[in-house]
Order: sequence, then C-alpha cells, then structure tokens
Amino acid sequence: MKWETLPDYDALSERAARILLGTIRENPRAVLGLPTGRTPIGMYQRVVQECSREYHCFSEVSTFNLDEYVGIPRTHPGSYFTFMQQNLFQHVDLDPANAHIPDGMAADLNAECARYDREIADAGGLQLTFLGLGSNGHIAFNEPGTPFTARTRVIELTQSTRDANASFFPDGVVPSRAITMGIATILESRRIVLLASGANKRAAIERLRSGEVTEEFPASSLHKHSDVTVLIA
Ligand code: GLP
Repeated sequence: MKWETLPDYDALSERAARILLGTIRENPRAVLGLPTGRTPIGMYQRVVQECSREYHCFSEVSTFNLDEYVGIPRTHPGSYFTFMQQNLFQHVDLDPANAHIPDGMAADLNAECARYDREIADAGGLQLTFLGLGSNGHIAFNEPGTPFTARTRVIELTQSTRDANASFFPDGVVPSRAITMGIATILESRRIVLLASGANKRAAIERLRSGEVTEEFPASSLHKHSDVTVLIA
C-alpha cells in the first residue's frame, strides 16, 4: 500500500485527477470504477475542467459506479445517478451506454447485482478504481462485517451511514438499502486509489495504517491488494 499525504483537499483532488487523466490518456479505452460522496467532487471538477467535450477524453472510456440506493428513481436528486450526471457525465463526452450504475429500481435486485458483475467482467474488468472511505471503514457501501468474498449485492445501510448521507436528502427520507459493488469485485480492479480527506476520516485512516486485516473494518481488505494508493489530506 502506497501512502501519499497531500497538503490540503485541493492538492488531493489535483493528484487524484492526474491519476485518472493519466490512465485514460495512456489507455483511451480504460474501464474505471468511480465513487460518489463529498470527497471525489474536487477530483471530478478538475477532470471536467481539463477534459471538456472537445478533447474527447472519455469517448471510449467505460465507467462503473460503486453503488446506488435502492428504491429511489434515477431522477431523484439524492440518487448516485444524479450525482454522477451533475459532477461528471453531463460535462464530458462519455457515451451514456458506457456509463454504468446499478439500477436500484430493478424488479429483481439480485439479478441486477449479478448482471452488474457480469457487465464488469464483459468489459474486461476494472483497470482503475477510486474509493472513498466511510468513517466506519466502509468502502463503497460495504459496511463492517461484510465478507471480503462478497460480490455486488443488496445491503442494509447502517444508521451512521444514513446519517452521514442525510444532507443529500433534504426531504429527510434517506433510503435504507443500496446496491454495492462487493469487496471481491473491487479487489479485482488492477489498481485502486483510496481518497480520504478531513478530520472525520482520521481515526479510520489510522486504523487502516495499523495494518490489521479484519472484516469488521472493510477498508482493511485493501491490504490484500498489490496496487493500492491512499491519498490523504
Ligand atoms: C457513501 C458512499 C461511499 C463513500 C462514502 C464517503 O457512503 N457510498 O462510496 O466513500 O459515502 O463519503 P464522503 O466522501 O462524503 O465522506
């Protein structure tokens, strides 16, 4: 695991954007795993600035988001579909057919999860995946206790995770379930970059740094991977 401590959030965002842009310049057909949350917003802003439509940065790129809420339509302001539209997709030339997000309204959610893993495999697997970090150590929506062998599936969100994301739901109705890419799926990405910024992530970062590997702390699964970069600010 490589650790990089950046002076502030802007520097972290810049560094993450460089990694993303470098990857798609080297491989215009790259398959990316993408996160939501507050942390990656600065990275997306920089990518958008540099990569306006005329540069065709994303024309052959495929993306797979880490997770989506169950039971809210894509058009809901709190959905991760809306988040990605607003922060990245509508500003770059990514083909909507190549922008994948689990469908949290699917009639058969288990089939949707299996389909999502198959789509990732059919695309050749994830080349580079960015992750945020929950203050309880969750990655994507894999909450503490998740087996490291888990594939994409439906999970019940913990109250602390629902509270942490409540500001995205001004009506106060925070979904209780989500589809999340599984830890095993994430660990198959060839490279992983974890982003963590702010005082509320410090305890989780220290626990990750300790090297302890336990399913009670999902981010510790990353110690099992050979190409992980942790960017901290
Ligand atoms: C949500 C997302 C995670 C994200 C986490 C941290 O729970 N599902 O993928 O890593 O929030 O978010 P933030 O960056 O806002 O702290």
